[in-house]
Amino acid sequence: MIGLIGLNYEMNLMINDWSQSAVILDTKGLWLGDGEVCIQAVEVSNVGKLIVLGGSRLEGEVVISGAKNAALPILAATILNGESCIIRNIPSLTDIKVMTEVLQSLGAKIEEVESHGLEIDSSQINSGDVSEALMRKMRASSLVMGPLLGRFKKAKVSFPGGCAIGSRPIDLHIKGLKMLGADIKEEYGYIVANADRLVGTEIHLDYPSVGATENIMMAAVFAEGDTTIKNAAQEPEVVDLQNFLNQMGALIHGAGTAEVMIQGVKKLHNVEYDVMPDRIEAGTYMVGATLTKGDVILKNVMYEHIESIVAKLSEIGAKIVFDSDKCNLRIIGPGTFAPFDLKTLPYPGFPTDMQAQMMVLATLGEGTSIITETIFENRFQHVPELRRMGAEIKLEGSTAVVRGKGRLSGTFVSSTDLRAGAALVLAGLVADGATIVEEIHHIERGYESFQEKLVKLGARIEIIRD
Ligand code: UD1
Repeated sequence: MIGLIGLNYEMNLMINDWSQSAVILDTKGLWLGDGEVCIQAVEVSNVGKLIVLGGSRLEGEVVISGAKNAALPILAATILNGESCIIRNIPSLTDIKVMTEVLQSLGAKIEEVESHGLEIDSSQINSGDVSEALMRKMRASSLVMGPLLGRFKKAKVSFPGGCAIGSRPIDLHIKGLKMLGADIKEEYGYIVANADRLVGTEIHLDYPSVGATENIMMAAVFAEGDTTIKNAAQEPEVVDLQNFLNQMGALIHGAGTAEVMIQGVKKLHNVEYDVMPDRIEAGTYMVGATLTKGDVILKNVMYEHIESIVAKLSEIGAKIVFDSDKCNLRIIGPGTFAPFDLKTLPYPGFPTDMQAQMMVLATLGEGTSIITETIFENRFQHVPELRRMGAEIKLEGSTAVVRGKGRLSGTFVSSTDLRAGAALVLAGLVADGATIVEEIHHIERGYESFQEKLVKLGARIEIIRD
């Protein structure tokens, strides 16, 4: 049977190779039943959707891309150089594109070199304004503040997301930059920083903020004397930034511990650098393999970066083997999932960026799991979406009590943020029927070729765009 359901559609999509469980969706993409041939008529909005068919087992190999959260500060740090740098293993993501637009708006010349490489010439950069339009696109745009101040002794950036000075999310960045000697004012929605000179000092962060640690490190590279950041973020991306800066001629040590020391230098030089692999992308595929009871080899993995994820997935029942010669990690999902308790923490604790994906596993666990989010106060936006898929989740402040029911069912869900979006796609892989994940631009901010990589592993996912 070939059927077309619904009248009010602008696009329909035929997926012949899904024949064994063909689906028919109505104009909103709602699941109407099985058919021999699948025709979907889906109302088109101006953002993409993913249609995920449940029931696949992930099998095969996936190559992990360069880390978004390492590439962003490294790209910002090229401002300091004043010459040319080649950065490789840069993931192809919309967040990276925004950062290159920020650099170009300041005068950088950027050319692609090979696949996933960029040559950035920062000789013509000036300390111009970073516009509100670019800052609003991505909070991490604020990472240019430190290097601009370091090189030009002035910086002017719009508030990310319109937050007020002194409050979250960049009060710690500003406090640290002030301690280096910058005068920082709020003027007409911009943060305006000026310094006659920057002088090294001891900065004790109230909280080990990743972005604040990175911004202060970059500002301190050209400061007079020594800067010590205490209670610094210990995330691997901070270490990658240190390595990049040091290869350009900076003198920094201690990244990866709670105390980072920066000895001021006068000049940096050209460098070629490879960005570290993305530990959150790796963790997301590890959850995918576990959830689908699959067998996946992840290539290009730094084992020491994902130990907390390995520990938790092993506790749940996954079998994980790491080949240190090849940097390959093999993960085999268990037959059933043990319930678990999880608390997100600054590194080396369990990453908040993996919390939503783990919650999907909890919904299928054999018992009750307790998930506590301690980093971001509003990071349970995937909970209502998972509930729509049949999950039983009770929220009590920063804790989610998830009663594993062993089953999810497909429906319309919305990616409320990057990691929530990825989690909902993973949920779709194991849900009964079809899951339509909307607002996928969030996913494209942080996962390179997410749909293609999952399809290569055996998932049945189609993308629908205008
Ligand atoms: C980075 C990551 C993000 C990850 C987060 C925590 C990048 C581009 N993003 O974000 O994916 O989820 O680390 O691992 O690297 N805070 C303040 N004031 C500040 C700065 C932060 O109150 O000045 C608060 C934040 O609101 C949040 C907590 O501190 O509650 C952690 O934030 P932070 O470590 O700064 O995260 P980001 O660098 O923004």
